[in-house]
Amino acid sequence: MTIKRKYYSGKNFRRALSIEELHRVARRCVPNFALEYVEGGSETERTLQWNSAALDAIRLAPNTLVDTSSRHLRINLFGQEINAPLLIAPTGLNGMLSHRGDIALARAAKKLGIPFNLSTLSNARLEDVATEVGGRLWMQLYVMSDRELTRNIISRADKAGYEALVFTSDANVFGYREWDQRNYRKPAKLNFRNMIDVARHPKWLLDVLIPHGVPRFENIIDFMPPEGRTAQGGVAFVPKLFDAKISWEDVEWLREIWPRKLILKGVLNAADAKRAAELGCDGIVVSNHGGRQLDSAVSTIEVLPDIAQAVGDQITVLIDSGFYRGTDIVKAIAMGADAVMIGRATLFGLAAGGETGVSHALSILTSEIDRVLGQTGCRSLDDVGPHLLA
Ligand SMILES: Cc1cc2nc3c(=O)[nH]c(=O)nc-3n(C[C@H](O)[C@H](O)[C@H](O)COP(=O)(O)O)c2cc1C
Repeated sequence: MTIKRKYYSGKNFRRALSIEELHRVARRCVPNFALEYVEGGSETERTLQWNSAALDAIRLAPNTLVDTSSRHLRINLFGQEINAPLLIAPTGLNGMLSHRGDIALARAAKKLGIPFNLSTLSNARLEDVATEVGGRLWMQLYVMSDRELTRNIISRADKAGYEALVFTSDANVFGYREWDQRNYRKPAKLNFRNMIDVARHPKWLLDVLIPHGVPRFENIIDFMPPEGRTAQGGVAFVPKLFDAKISWEDVEWLREIWPRKLILKGVLNAADAKRAAELGCDGIVVSNHGGRQLDSAVSTIEVLPDIAQAVGDQITVLIDSGFYRGTDIVKAIAMGADAVMIGRATLFGLAAGGETGVSHALSILTSEIDRVLGQTGCRSLDDVGPHLLA
């Protein structure tokens, strides 16, 4: 039997029933170039597809006839309770989707009671997110060729009270996202087709572009040369900051100077996970950067069981890349993850409806997780384990 599927195709994010529908709403709310920057993977986008395909291929074998009338989603993360097994992943240029996008994401995370990761390449200054929002804030770090700039971010994050430093290791060489290349005729100069498309998004123009201009990389602006401080200059300058020299010595260095939780993001095999634990990391993120870096990198869910087994309870294991359904999240926890970082799903919410849109994305995910718990005979995430995997 073939079923003709029909999705909501309007602009009201509140009517989106799933992250997929929210993605469709987002497509209508922001210009093509801004959404393709979010959606895209690198090169042939194999890894982007495999992330979803590998999750799709996992089936659940639920327990039946368990009283699940009282359920909850709370978990303990680094000694404190959070209200869902989720974190908002670090993403750069959030201000392109909605004015003050970083603040909106941080507020929605705080409202739900989960951590928010601020990117080094955020449009808001890390101090502003801490004073205006607070909540459980983690700082993502690119260790950059300018080590003075790297040190500056670390000491500011420390002073502002960020509870964790997340060192992203998989962007030593910048990924090649061909969608981004196609949308511009030269750095920060859109091609004609995209300029016409921008003009067809008056609400976005009035929220983002006309009053404020193209958002700048405020966190690192003081370190940019004058020509790098414009939108065009920033886009050209930022890729030069990535450092192919980064190595395990940087993990040792960060462990020495960073006083709180240290997380390594971008781990894809058990040996690297073990090494992170040996060097004193408190956690890892099993991540392929949402399929935006090495195309053909393995999907994260495929390597998770090996990694979780290798590190046992030594360190916290987080995962991201391709999580768009409650079932996906429960599968990861059944396979050994402690919690899941969400990247694009909450960005679709941001593009579709600002802070309330992000909250809508999170509420779709939490209600899906809650339903999956009930339907698999689990009262909480403590009941989720490999026994649920077919
Ligand atoms: C638009 C966008 C920007 C990103 N920027 C960063 C970043 O600045 N730092 C970082 O460590 N990861 C960055 N990532 C990767 C995310 O942190 C995360 O690993 C990925 O989005 C997870 O996959 P998902 O989008 O399928 O959930 C970015 C991802 C996207 C989609």
